[in-house]
Amino acid sequence: MASEQKRWSVMHVLPLILILKMVSFEVNGHPQVPCYFIFGDSLVDNGNNNRNESLARADYLPYGIDFPSGPTGRFCNGKTIVDAVAKLLGFDDYIPPYANAKGRAILNGVNYASAAAGIRNETGKQLGARISFAGQVNNYKNTVSQVVNILGDKDSAANYLRQCIHTVGLGSNDYINNYFMPNYYQTSRQYTLEQYASVLIQQYSELLRELYNHGARKLALNGIGQIGCVPNALSQSQDGTTCVEKVNSAIKLFNNELISLVNNFNRDLPDAKFIYINNYDIFQDFINNPQAYGFKVTNAGCCGVGRIKGQITCVPGKTPCQNRDEHLFWDDFHPSEAANVIVARRSYSAQSRSDAYPMDIRQLAKL
Ligand SMILES: *[C@@H]1O[C@H](CO)[C@@H](O)[C@H](O)[C@H]1NC(C)=O
Ligand SMILES: *[C@@H]1O[C@H](CO)[C@@H](O)[C@H](O)[C@H]1NC(C)=O
Repeated sequence: MASEQKRWSVMHVLPLILILKMVSFEVNGHPQVPCYFIFGDSLVDNGNNNRNESLARADYLPYGIDFPSGPTGRFCNGKTIVDAVAKLLGFDDYIPPYANAKGRAILNGVNYASAAAGIRNETGKQLGARISFAGQVNNYKNTVSQVVNILGDKDSAANYLRQCIHTVGLGSNDYINNYFMPNYYQTSRQYTLEQYASVLIQQYSELLRELYNHGARKLALNGIGQIGCVPNALSQSQDGTTCVEKVNSAIKLFNNELISLVNNFNRDLPDAKFIYINNYDIFQDFINNPQAYGFKVTNAGCCGVGRIKGQITCVPGKTPCQNRDEHLFWDDFHPSEAANVIVARRSYSAQSRSDAYPMDIRQLAKL
């Protein structure tokens, strides 16, 4: 009798599992938003600097060692944060770089990010070619006119774009490849750190408004992470393990103004939905509590970093560490795939109330 019952339940449970699988497959097949546009720097660049004259390139091994198609220009061993967010949003494919996005593929979104780029045009110039945020916004305008052509008219394009998520993350390079590089840049002599944060936010807000004026309505703005705690910064601190407080406090000024900007845009721009992603505190959590996230090493990169002629990326062809998932950082500046996947998960579906403000990406997608 007992075994009869068991057989009965197995027979009924199996089809149910099949049905559930089919349902979840269908959900995966339909992204929660029609398109995902990405603006940023090396944290999310996926190949826009390839083939250009730049020291900020990652189109060679060991970059991409854990990425299915190998090196692509991503500054990581594997997926970036936006790759992981694209998956969580239900996209089948990664969002293509602007440099190769063509035809109807742009309807899924485009990645404009360029390593070394900043909010200010001159930021990162000592590393070579890059597309500043102003340039990325111009490229978006170009995409929007292509969307108008494909969909037939401006109203259809506007109606389409307003549903899409636009992720924007710039500012790190305006500090590390500008303000804190006084041999190359004037800004630290022109502005105090308070003034500099305001100047950056002012220019950022003008360009973000351009995105809004060209159809963007759902925007996720990334706060700057703890760049005073990346291995490159630690290696310059006295004891090699203490975060550089001067850099982190500069970043906090910027992030605080960015939160105010989110509030102002949500109040002033009709139909605008801006959110803020709190990368700073998510990284604080990793550093305070690494074991909880599976990290054993938080103060050193995993690949060997060259230091000749401004080369600050992984040494080409050099074998990186084996335990990449136990490293918070992949190279001297950029998080590992393991870290990126967790940041993506927390920004998509907030783990703590402070991860995303006033809502997370999943809720933004539903609006
Ligand atoms: C790379 O070169 C192409 C062609 O000149 C240009 O359109 C693009 O903006 C450049 N990208 C960067 C990152 O400088
Ligand atoms: C920055 O460069 C863009 C072109 O990419 C230009 O239109 C803009 O005027 C420049 N901004 C400043 C402040 O120089």
